[in-house]
Amino acid sequence: MNFSLEGKVAIVTGAASGIGEAISRRLRGAGARVFDADLNAPPQMGNAETHDFRRTDCSQPEELAALCQMCVDRFGQLDIMVNNAGIADAAPLHEWDAARSERFWRLHVLGVQSATREAAARMTPGGAIVNFSSITAMRGFVTWGEYAATKAGIISLTQTAAMEYGPAGLRVNCVAPGIIETPMAMAEAPDMVERNARIFAPLGRIGQPEEAAAAVHFLASPDASYITGQVLLVDGGWSVGPSIAGLEMAAGATPQ
Ligand SMILES: NC(=O)c1ccc[n+]([C@@H]2O[C@H](COP(=O)([O-])OP(=O)(O)OC[C@H]3O[C@@H](n4cnc5c(N)ncnc54)[C@H](O)[C@@H]3O)[C@@H](O)[C@H]2O)c1
Repeated sequence: MNFSLEGKVAIVTGAASGIGEAISRRLRGAGARVFDADLNAPPQMGNAETHDFRRTDCSQPEELAALCQMCVDRFGQLDIMVNNAGIADAAPLHEWDAARSERFWRLHVLGVQSATREAAARMTPGGAIVNFSSITAMRGFVTWGEYAATKAGIISLTQTAAMEYGPAGLRVNCVAPGIIETPMAMAEAPDMVERNARIFAPLGRIGQPEEAAAAVHFLASPDASYITGQVLLVDGGWSVGPSIAGLEMAAGATPQ
């Protein structure tokens, strides 16, 4: 096999920006027909024969059901579901009220669970679902508590879904990025984000959306046919330890 997605049909949520836009492009490049879903239209649409868009609020279960059905009606099948849509907001835990928290739980947990259910109901054996978690789900993360909790929920949903849909021949996996250069990550203080990447990621740099999209492509492809229930970190090594510059800084040196 060669990671070909010829003949496959995919939905990519959050496809109007950042990682989602790169995923949609990557899957189309591998031969898939792709249905984008987002609150906003993607900046560019490809060939109408292989690329479509539906405005969808992925925190609303009924909109996700309609999205999956529209994809089947438009392209005749659904083989790959990428649940990438996400939001970010950082504040200490004591500043989170119920309304602020609910936005995160509705999109990241209820949304991913609903999209998984609606996609799986329309897939045949060989179908693949790829969810989006985050390195913040792996440990405590000061000011990212609510975001991280919902991203940890996505890992748990991925594991259970892998068990429940395995007998149907469907695979469910998860990508967990570190810092990827997108509007979400760079929204505030890009200099600080780049500095954090130099300190925390052994590779010493921010990742690019295409590098996260490549992981999705692999997990969605038939080449990953015996991989399910897994979390693939795309984090420049952050999860295993800091960069040499970060260690030197901890020892008192000024990072270059
Ligand atoms: N960029 C990073 O450093 C990073 C790190 C870890 C995890 N992630 C995760 O990767 C995914 C993609 O993030 P990104 O950095 O590309 O962000 P981004 O902000 O560039 O793109 C997110 C997209 O999701 C869409 N979206 C938001 N709410 C939605 C909703 N209710 N319904 C439909 N679409 C909605 C937005 O319109 C946007 O197009 C997210 O799940 C995010 O949590 C990103």
